[in-house]
Amino acid sequence: MSKLKLAIIGCGSITKHRHLPEAKANENVEVVAVCSGNLKNAESVAKMFDVPKVYADYETMLKEEKPDAVVVAAPNYLHADATIKALEAGAHVLCEKPMATTFEDCNRMVDTAKETGKFLMIAHNQRFNAAHIKARQIIQSGELGRVLSFKTTFGHGGPEGWSSDRPDTWFFHKEKAAFGSMGDLGVHKIDLMRFLLGEEFVEAAAFVTTLAKRYPGGGLIDVDDNAVCILKTHSGAIGTLTASWTYPGSEDNSTVIYCERGSITLYGDPRFSMIIRYANGQKAYFELDTMQTNQNQTKSGVMDEFINCILTNTPPEISGEEGLKTMKVVFACFESAQTGRVVRIDY
Ligand SMILES: NC(=O)c1ccc[n+]([C@@H]2O[C@H](COP(=O)([O-])OP(=O)(O)OC[C@H]3O[C@@H](n4cnc5c(N)ncnc54)[C@H](O)[C@@H]3O)[C@@H](O)[C@H]2O)c1
Repeated sequence: MSKLKLAIIGCGSITKHRHLPEAKANENVEVVAVCSGNLKNAESVAKMFDVPKVYADYETMLKEEKPDAVVVAAPNYLHADATIKALEAGAHVLCEKPMATTFEDCNRMVDTAKETGKFLMIAHNQRFNAAHIKARQIIQSGELGRVLSFKTTFGHGGPEGWSSDRPDTWFFHKEKAAFGSMGDLGVHKIDLMRFLLGEEFVEAAAFVTTLAKRYPGGGLIDVDDNAVCILKTHSGAIGTLTASWTYPGSEDNSTVIYCERGSITLYGDPRFSMIIRYANGQKAYFELDTMQTNQNQTKSGVMDEFINCILTNTPPEISGEEGLKTMKVVFACFESAQTGRVVRIDY
């Protein structure tokens, strides 16, 4: 069987730490080209991973390479344009989170995937963590009863130590990032909670604010560095979701789900990725896997899933439609923060 020709748009940290290593490890993939806004950057990444061709603009790359599949891992403001052009060029697309910067763009991406008949998958990698998968099974089995409440958090010290765009990273500029910690980290947890609970959020109330991150010149950045949200699901469960770029020391990437007959703690303990505390006092400890951190990248499984969907002609579960539902909650949280009101989310 001939290999799938894969091209990657964006040569930053996520491409170097995740997409290229995972693509190179997949025997059904041939990485034919990489593209960066800056050709020197693309050349150095191509050299590192033995990629034959480099481009400074993705339209030329799509036209010349005619890839079967494309990864979009460029700054957020390019996600919609690059995805739509890649779909129209006949490629299946794996697009990084956050899916896009506006609701209209998310919709255009979904529509273009439908029109072209190509797959669009959004890289919500938290759905692949072993403890998240196990917790979802337990919740859906009903053994702990109804989910009543939850708290979920993703916080670390900020993207400036991670981004390859230094010293003044695009993550800190609204015209390129659109969102700060909420779109960077909060979006992971919204998608994760939708996955774990198996239902949609219907109401959101949020504070989304900038407290401490500054540009090298000294002014506060123009995107948020902290967000605290209260969310309600269709069945009435309520919980909090926190995203932060100002947590000193180690990352917090944990979730607790409180059900009628016990609680499930995910990635809240350095050793046990899942702990179940039953209402009768018993506890169950699971050592399943460890959560990726910026410093410790483990295989995400996202690339293998994307390639497998293409090879087996199976639509990806984390489709554009799924990405859009997650983004609706992000937009609702921003609307709530701006208006000071609880926002209803319609589907
Ligand atoms: N799923 C995850 O856990 C995860 C983690 C980190 C980043 N991301 C997402 O991946 C995307 C990239 O983030 P990153 O951390 O690699 O950022 P980064 O700052 O390290 O790199 C950004 C890269 O974008 C590329 N770029 C800039 N302008 C371009 C253009 N016009 N055409 C093509 N490429 C261009 C450059 O190659 C640059 O190196 C972002 O959307 C981010 O939210 C996802």
